[in-house]
Amino acid sequence: MSELKNIVNKILENGKGILAADESTGTMTKRFDGVGVPSTPENRLLFRETLFCSSEMKNCIGGVILYDETIKQTSSKKNKIPELIEGMGSCAGIKVDTGAKSLAGSPNEKITEGLDGLRDRLKEYFKLGAKFTKWRGVYNISKDFPSKLSIHSNAHALARYSALVQECNMVPIVEPEVLMDGDHSAKECFNKTSEVIKKCFEELILHKVDLKGVILKPNMILAGNKSKEKISNEEVAKLTMDCLKSSVPSEVPGIAFLSGGQSELEATENLNLINKLNKTGFIMSYSYGRALQQGALKFWSKNIKDIEGTQKVFNHRAKMNTLAAQGKWSKEIESR
Ligand code: 13P
Repeated sequence: MSELKNIVNKILENGKGILAADESTGTMTKRFDGVGVPSTPENRLLFRETLFCSSEMKNCIGGVILYDETIKQTSSKKNKIPELIEGMGSCAGIKVDTGAKSLAGSPNEKITEGLDGLRDRLKEYFKLGAKFTKWRGVYNISKDFPSKLSIHSNAHALARYSALVQECNMVPIVEPEVLMDGDHSAKECFNKTSEVIKKCFEELILHKVDLKGVILKPNMILAGNKSKEKISNEEVAKLTMDCLKSSVPSEVPGIAFLSGGQSELEATENLNLINKLNKTGFIMSYSYGRALQQGALKFWSKNIKDIEGTQKVFNHRAKMNTLAAQGKWSKEIESR
């Protein structure tokens, strides 16, 4: 089991974080459409390879979450993508859920699928070089949601997934994402996120998952994006710390936040403030998708041959987040 702990340490040591580059082809197509680049397998590979070869990968990115298409692709230098990532001193990971579908019994909520045949898929990904995996459960906040049914069934799926992943000697990222969509208050987000996370760990323990070999990927505690309530970044950090302190068992070594629709700057600033408050034993880092890639994608879309320029944008973002993961970021450093 210490093998799993070693993987966690390698991914999150010294302020390193995770690059979530596991967007499904559908999501990636939406992102590319947004900046006017045709979403072909070649272009998706070109953009991703550009990020994976950036110089700050070595200092900042301990793990990269891939999508099925990418883990099987070959780079322009003719090595497999997991090898390329290993060569940059980072670990390759893979999203293994097959997406969130309507939940029977509460059809306006989602249940994440992908358990059938998972054991065999995990063996294949392990052989391809994956060291860790991701599964995302997703929850909406409204007057009635998330329901007990959605909280329970998603926690159950996350636990069964985690047990299978550890059986295959990889580290599961457990991602219960309470969405920021809606007009709910930060307090409601706090309460619902606490309930969701507590249930996840109850199920993980029931399924005999070794909590020392798990990374939790939660949302930060925010007011809904349509809420009139505006809370400061300091309050976000305080609520997030309080929520995690009271709902995550102390054996869990690392927490890596998702960005969830925050701007790049917000996600960095909030992570920095969280780390300034962090007196727990948890490593608090990042596993950002949009908040690591947005600027780089926008830059790249203007000239997809400008690899160096794109890497410069990505390097800066990665560096800022790694400083934030150590509580060492500042506005002054950001704009230097
Ligand atoms: P965002 O940081 O863009 O929310 O993506 C993280 C992720 O992996 C969602 O599953």
